[in-house]
Amino acid sequence: MSRATSTVDPAPADTVLQIEQLTVSFGHRGGDRVRAVTGVDLTVAEAETVGLVGGSGAGKSTVARAVAGLVRPDRGAIRLCGSDLVGLRRGAARRLRRTLHLVFQDPYASLPPTLRVAEVVAEPLVIHQIGDRAERDGRVDEVLAAVHLSAHHRTRHVHQLSGGERQRVALARALVTRPRLILADEPTAMLDASLRRELVDLIGELVRGSGVAVLHVTHDLALAQHGCDRLVVMRAGRVVESGRTGDVLGAPAHPYTAALVAAASGASRRKDPHG
Ligand SMILES: Nc1ncnc2c1ncn2[C@@H]1O[C@H](COP(=O)(O)OP(=O)(O)OP(=O)(O)O)[C@@H](O)[C@H]1O
Ligand SMILES: [Mg+2]
Repeated sequence: MSRATSTVDPAPADTVLQIEQLTVSFGHRGGDRVRAVTGVDLTVAEAETVGLVGGSGAGKSTVARAVAGLVRPDRGAIRLCGSDLVGLRRGAARRLRRTLHLVFQDPYASLPPTLRVAEVVAEPLVIHQIGDRAERDGRVDEVLAAVHLSAHHRTRHVHQLSGGERQRVALARALVTRPRLILADEPTAMLDASLRRELVDLIGELVRGSGVAVLHVTHDLALAQHGCDRLVVMRAGRVVESGRTGDVLGAPAHPYTAALVAAASGASRRKDPHG
């Protein structure tokens, strides 16, 4: 089946992120370099949510971190809205990366605890010198409303919020600069099962409302099935399979995907396997 291979089709016009033949390795003290990611191809289009799934150590976070500029690829292209981040000089790449935003797993560690919600959400606008005070305030109100936080959340400190509220603040902060791409690495991992779906539903709402593209790194296949248009399955640093979510999970082309699906359906009958 052709979807199991990784031949690169020309990107359609609405492609926001296009990764081609990405390879990343890490040096280890006293040892050889270890390949974390090998020859990965992946695209995310406008208003699309792509799930990057696979077991622990598969290389999912490394792909996301390479896109964010946190690790340097050995080889390959990472095109954001058509421009290759890998080939660009630092300053230009940094400017281009303003059009993407990350949401991490742990909203306790990734949000400044001493700031008030409105300040946390406004911070990216301040850092990138976007708008004056009044424009920033207006934009903060807009995105807080988009993530269903009310005016009385504005003045609370982050440490006074619940885990679910914190992740909504993280999403609001991600959206405030109107990015083209959101990279979300296990954004629901710290949340209870019931809140996970809520957050994924909210991401879906935001995608439909703003057209932002989302790369959602997760090991949770049930969530991926619920919230992702397409899936890219990684194992040991390589893509083993990709396609429409229903096709990949309904009729896996690769035995590894079939094993993940079987493990997930077993796990859903037990308690949370990762918690
Ligand atoms: N900074 C680093 N230095 C050395 N090795 C690393 C580094 N980051 C990741 N690796 C290695 O690269 C491989 C891929 O790691 P990665 O974090 O991308 O996996 P993952 O798919 O996100 O796994 P998980 O589901 O557990 O988060 C692993 O073998 C990991 O040990
Ligand atoms: Mg990871």
